[in-house]
Amino acid sequence: MNNCAIVLLGASGDLSKRKLLPALYKLIRQNKLHNFIVVGAAFDDTTAQTILEQSKQFIDTIDPVAWKQLSDNTYYHKLNFTNPDDFVALHSFVSKLEKQHNLSGNRIIYLAAASHFFCTITEHLESSALAQKLSEKDRIWHRIVYEKPFGHDLKSAHEINACIAQSFHESQIYRIDHYLTKELVGNIALVRFTNCVFEPLWNNRYIDNVQIILSEKICVEERGAYYDHYGALRDVVQNHMLMLLALVGMESPERLTGEFIRTERAKVLEKVRVVDGVLGQYEGYQQEKNVAPDSTTETFAMLYLMIDNVRWSGVPFYFKTGKCLDKKETTIHIKFKQVDCLLAKNCPSESNYLTIQVTPESAFLLSLNAKKPGLRHEVVPVKMEFCHSCLFEESIPEAYEVLFEEIIRGEQSVSVRFDEIEYAWKIIDSVKAMNLPVHSYQQGSGTGPKEVEKFANKHGMRWRS
Ligand code: BG6
Repeated sequence: MNNCAIVLLGASGDLSKRKLLPALYKLIRQNKLHNFIVVGAAFDDTTAQTILEQSKQFIDTIDPVAWKQLSDNTYYHKLNFTNPDDFVALHSFVSKLEKQHNLSGNRIIYLAAASHFFCTITEHLESSALAQKLSEKDRIWHRIVYEKPFGHDLKSAHEINACIAQSFHESQIYRIDHYLTKELVGNIALVRFTNCVFEPLWNNRYIDNVQIILSEKICVEERGAYYDHYGALRDVVQNHMLMLLALVGMESPERLTGEFIRTERAKVLEKVRVVDGVLGQYEGYQQEKNVAPDSTTETFAMLYLMIDNVRWSGVPFYFKTGKCLDKKETTIHIKFKQVDCLLAKNCPSESNYLTIQVTPESAFLLSLNAKKPGLRHEVVPVKMEFCHSCLFEESIPEAYEVLFEEIIRGEQSVSVRFDEIEYAWKIIDSVKAMNLPVHSYQQGSGTGPKEVEKFANKHGMRWRS
């Protein structure tokens, strides 16, 4: 974990303050990051100390020693993404600091920037030599991290990828999705493939449907300009939700790392077909800062997807996501088929469910049917719960902490391979081609637009609450 410069491009933005700096702080507090510098760069006239102060509100408790270490090693350099000379200046700024701090020259360049800047920034990184084309044989490494979403459709993703491939080796490129480093997400495949009680049932003979929910209480907040160009489908469905689907749906990889897991995820995404959907926009969205007053961007999406392969043929995968809903929750419900119950009177009305809760609590819940205490043989659903966050409370790291650790280790499974991105964009492009109307819903709603009910009736499904 030692010895590198972390250059944050877009350092004054929401992601840096909310997630990246708090993650680096936590790594320092846990003594996982020692010889390092953080160099923030962005267009704003600001300072490292101002940005750090702003990120403090996203950290629970501040340990003064760790905070001082972060603050003593954090710098800021003003830069315009489109100006090549600014990158030359940034390179010499970083090189001087590396000498001053006795660093070896390893670098993470983190593009916390909109994807339409990716190609330009990449070209400037290469021409300024702030990041060089290095192979694994070289003494030092330079790794370039591209935040999601990678492009805004299939065409733009291709263009960006072709552009960055000219400057760097694939082994240096990290197209990241922080959901892949969430503790419970990492656990999905492990639990599936290491437990005899799940894997034999993990197919269309026993599974009725899969529901993936990513609901958020927050509205667009300060991110109107970004969000209005992307919407829910591009912001979270194309990446986080499809990655969850890929992990639930994939075949067993030889290993749960690198290329093995990426190949299996890609095979699932290639087979996804969109059947139906509902889109929504919360009331008041058009009045949000930096949102077009006549915007039709969706802040809510519900999709019905199929995976056309032998394992999943006929099993609906339902997605539901939205901003400004009643709660923050990321959950996967796997509904098993009704048992062939031969009892005369005591058959259960509920199916079994396996629920994988990613947030707020990390947990696995298995709902079974059991006897209600008393004389009559009445059947009631009961839950077996494995509360991951209760059991391992202190040790559950935040997604971005793991992400930095893995990038520094050079672990590529946290990076999404381009074919996975391609398939994911094909899915989103096919939803876009359906031209679904955008219905309005109330802020704080628990369900989204009322068309959701019609959708459920039409497809004979019931959302697990
Ligand atoms: C980000 C999206 O990738 O994920 C945000 O851009 C969203 O709009 C966030 O709020 C959700 O992530 P998490 O980790 O808070 O569930």
